[in-house]
Amino acid sequence: MNISLKSPSEIEKMRVVGAITARVLEMIEPYVKAGVTTDELDKIMNDYMENVEGAKSADLGYQGYPKATCISINEVVCHGIPGPHKLHEGDIVNIDVTVLYDKYHGDSSRMYVVGKTSPRNMQLIKCAQEGMYEAIKTVRPGSNLADIGAAIQKVADKAGFSIVRDYCGHGIGAGFHEEPQVLHYKNRMNLILQEGMCFTIEPMINAGTYKCKVNRKDGWTVTTADKQPSAQFEHTLLVTHNGVEVLTLRKDEDFPRIIEH
Ligand code: MF3
Ligand code: CO
Ligand code: CO
Repeated sequence: MNISLKSPSEIEKMRVVGAITARVLEMIEPYVKAGVTTDELDKIMNDYMENVEGAKSADLGYQGYPKATCISINEVVCHGIPGPHKLHEGDIVNIDVTVLYDKYHGDSSRMYVVGKTSPRNMQLIKCAQEGMYEAIKTVRPGSNLADIGAAIQKVADKAGFSIVRDYCGHGIGAGFHEEPQVLHYKNRMNLILQEGMCFTIEPMINAGTYKCKVNRKDGWTVTTADKQPSAQFEHTLLVTHNGVEVLTLRKDEDFPRIIEH
């Protein structure tokens, strides 16, 4: 495997793009309301990235992807394509943005709730976020990449939800998707983490089956096989000399930016 270790100047660029990525998800929050179309949200975020931050969406044109962001509602697991569809009261919505700035990438997503939703949907969202946080807590030099999946598996098993297996986290830097692949379920990967590695943790948690389907017409939209809801959170992380730094941490989060062991 060819996993890049970021130099101090690259780390600074990852911090800058990570902060921009966080601001996109903060900025869009008040617009995520019943009646708005996902196209409108996509346009607001694209304009913000380009005109306010002087950055670019890495999604737009990526393997032919047609929009600047991914917006995944209810049973859509990931890669929901923004369009004329309106948000409705009770929807749970993942917005995933990947920003390119000064040749480096920041990748993050969070869930939004449109108005109020069911207790089960709230549990699902909490499980995805808690799984991601528990996984982040395992990250430090000398820990194993497989500890990440084990931590998420514990949280999901306890809640009685399932973990998507078809999509994983990834190394990130000058490349959007670098090595290694980061599995979110219990696995036998054996890779010791080192200072300077950057990767995402982005668990997708399903209320029912872990099995997914890709829309055959658009080639992108991933839904749960049983049409039950799905939730996801994603952060871009840096392995520091003694722990982890969450490069895409937002103001609305109750989680430390830096964990030192
Ligand atoms: N942001 C997604 C990820 O976490 C990838 C989206 S690729 C796109 O890796 F083309 F669908 F935008
Ligand atoms: Co990602
Ligand atoms: Co992403």
